[in-house]
Amino acid sequence: MIELADVAGLRGWVRAQRGAGRRVALVPTMGFLHAGHLALVDEARRRADVVAMSIFVNPLQFGPTEDLARYPRDLPHDRRQAEERGVDALFVPSEVVMYPPGSEIRVVPGATADRWEGAARPGHFTGVLTVVAKLFHLVEPDLAAFGRKDIQQATLIRQMVRDLDWALEVVVVPTVREPDGRALSSRNAYLEPDERRRAGVLSAALRAAHEAFRAGASRAGDVSAAARRVLETEPSVAVEYLAVVEPLTLAPVDTVEAETVVALAARLGRTRLIDNIVLGEGLG
Ligand code: PAF
Repeated sequence: MIELADVAGLRGWVRAQRGAGRRVALVPTMGFLHAGHLALVDEARRRADVVAMSIFVNPLQFGPTEDLARYPRDLPHDRRQAEERGVDALFVPSEVVMYPPGSEIRVVPGATADRWEGAARPGHFTGVLTVVAKLFHLVEPDLAAFGRKDIQQATLIRQMVRDLDWALEVVVVPTVREPDGRALSSRNAYLEPDERRRAGVLSAALRAAHEAFRAGASRAGDVSAAARRVLETEPSVAVEYLAVVEPLTLAPVDTVEAETVVALAARLGRTRLIDNIVLGEGLG
């Protein structure tokens, strides 16, 4: 694995891959890698000849009161994990490489970013799309892999690729979970052992939504009521939203189908957690 920190080095590596006729995949991350990130690498490897991973804690996507300073970081561990999993190029730029002084152009999403995560985190998706657009320009990948846990992010990146006519495929990989169903997330590092146990209520609620669907519920209200009943068993988990939405725009629906998504965000102490389920697929 080669490690690159600047734009010229990354572009040189990409040029060499293209020259050799290789398909290039990109896995953008903010590091503190876990099995969820490694599943993105596996999927990228299956679909391309070489895999580039970026590790960059993007300040632009954090609000002024959010966790940028304490976001978990462990580059030596990430290097080992990436190399062992078969990443070919690890791009670890500094902030000044990604945002040189004077850089002020932003990629601003449309209305799909106004709800759910976007409503709770103003400006977040402008930060995400801006950094992802820069990475797409730098790597010009044939495909890029993102996790389904951040479903609104994946939806907006797909929209950006479509609306800006990028010739690349956005691959969305199912969520990797702990044995108790809890979605893997770098932010799980903030949770105390007891909070970890209580965080399991999010996936339990989604499972209840799935079971209600499988048992024949067709109204969004009934599906969300099934999830809410489970959430209420853990009063220390403060639900921010529980949304039953259609998959393309994440707009709320009245009637559910197999493709319908149930997404939720909740606070547990100082930690904000998100998770979602596609009703026809179950947890994953
Ligand atoms: O999902 C993430 O880790 C980040 O939002 C991303 C896509 C790497 C952009 O900074």
